[in-house]
Amino acid sequence: MTFTADSRFHTQLIWFNGLLPAALVLFDGWRGALGANPVEFVTRCSGVLSLIFLIITLAVTPLRKMYGWNWLLKQRRLIGLFAFYYGTAHLITYLAFDREGQLSTVAADVLKRPFIAIGMFSFLLMVPLAITSTNRMIKRLGGKRWAMLHRLTYVVAIGGVWHYFLIVKSDITFPALFALWLLVLLGWRVVAALKKAAKVPQ
Ligand code: HEM
Repeated sequence: MTFTADSRFHTQLIWFNGLLPAALVLFDGWRGALGANPVEFVTRCSGVLSLIFLIITLAVTPLRKMYGWNWLLKQRRLIGLFAFYYGTAHLITYLAFDREGQLSTVAADVLKRPFIAIGMFSFLLMVPLAITSTNRMIKRLGGKRWAMLHRLTYVVAIGGVWHYFLIVKSDITFPALFALWLLVLLGWRVVAALKKAAKVPQ
């Protein structure tokens, strides 16, 4: 992968925007401004951030194809890794505070609270995606198999949105907005696949 001055700038931009929310939360934590329930605040922030970065990752191909923003492709891995990074922070917050470090209680919690089971399932699916994000793994798997595996990103995002719907009690505005974006992105994929199939001579 060659890096031009432009792509270096784009990478810096993604790093900046990826780390900024964490820095702001840390800063607010340091000055005691995380509200009445800081643990809930951090859990919710990290969950939403993971979902936001997942949706942006999924938007890369449509944006590239529709607007010719090919530079985004080089940044997709980094954006996806930020989704994993915030997902990991989310999991750590849950383990450290919700479970108070008692890992033996996690299995029972997964069985008791369906939203935890769905969150856990989605997070576990993110692990192979993060592990196979290196150039070496892309080569080892081969482009087609790698692309197939990385379609799991959609499953992770669907799981994340479902998890969100199960958490909110009355106001479903935010999970519904994420669901809408996901539907648009999935719809774009389906239309693109249908167009491609129609072009291929039978
Ligand atoms: C690793 C497994 C996971 C566990 C144990 C977990 C656990 C939790 C918990 C305890 C909450 C707070 C619930 C509350 O305040 O009542 C939460 C909220 C949330 N989680 Fe997860 N989660 C997991 C994975 C994920 C993943 C993979 C995503 C996204 C891709 C995600 C996105 C969210 C969102 C968006 C919220 C709600 C934020 C809000 O209320 O504003 N979670 N999760």
